[in-house]
Amino acid sequence: MGEKLMRLDKFLSGQLNISRADAKELIKKRLVTVNGETAKLYDMKINTAADSVCSEGIPFAYREHVYIMLNKPAGVVCATRDRLSDTVLELIPAEMRRKNLFPAGRLDKDTVGFVLITDDGEFAHNMLSPKKHVDKRYFAVLERPARPEDTDLFASGMVIDGMEKCLPAKLEITEDPKEVYITLREGKYHQIKRMAEAAGNKVVYLKRVSIGGLALDESLNEGECREITPEELDLIGLKVGT
Ligand code: URA
Repeated sequence: MGEKLMRLDKFLSGQLNISRADAKELIKKRLVTVNGETAKLYDMKINTAADSVCSEGIPFAYREHVYIMLNKPAGVVCATRDRLSDTVLELIPAEMRRKNLFPAGRLDKDTVGFVLITDDGEFAHNMLSPKKHVDKRYFAVLERPARPEDTDLFASGMVIDGMEKCLPAKLEITEDPKEVYITLREGKYHQIKRMAEAAGNKVVYLKRVSIGGLALDESLNEGECREITPEELDLIGLKVGT
């Protein structure tokens, strides 16, 4: 992440998720220090890579973007707002919120599991692009046992609804053949449900368990979230900021 020069009030507003007016108020009340000196000017230039900024005595490290892992429960929608249903953003606690957060990709309302929420549009775009080869792995419970030949069917690049061609997908059948793992590299609308239907079956439960090499933290209960560490972000398999 390169260094950037940024006005102090803008820096505070972005990092603390407060309005520009509230950021100015903190500076006016002499509650902000830059490299140990009380800041006096709203438009003082901050070097995001080198300057140490404290608000009310508490230092914070500059982060250009945030990346949050949410264990999505059923019944909420992957959107930034919705007229009828709760959205995944409403599950983010106030202290983690930032401007411009959005879910990177959509799970159906009844699908549970790993949703990545970020304010980094480029990262989200790359994570979702089939060209970047970031696998999304799901656990599914099917109405009927999967057949051994379904593995080849999924791997062959299925045609769903008679006209939409999917990229090859991986189907792993567990000891209980009604329980399977499916790995996709793309995200067509209701893709797994439609693939199961094309194979003469039906999905009764669906959970996303990993994105790239990063697995859902199973200590998160449904509805809970936490920030993704920089090391974990690397496991997704994309370079941030490139
Ligand atoms: N496939 C589906 O059918 N639904 C999801 O939510 C994700 C993948």
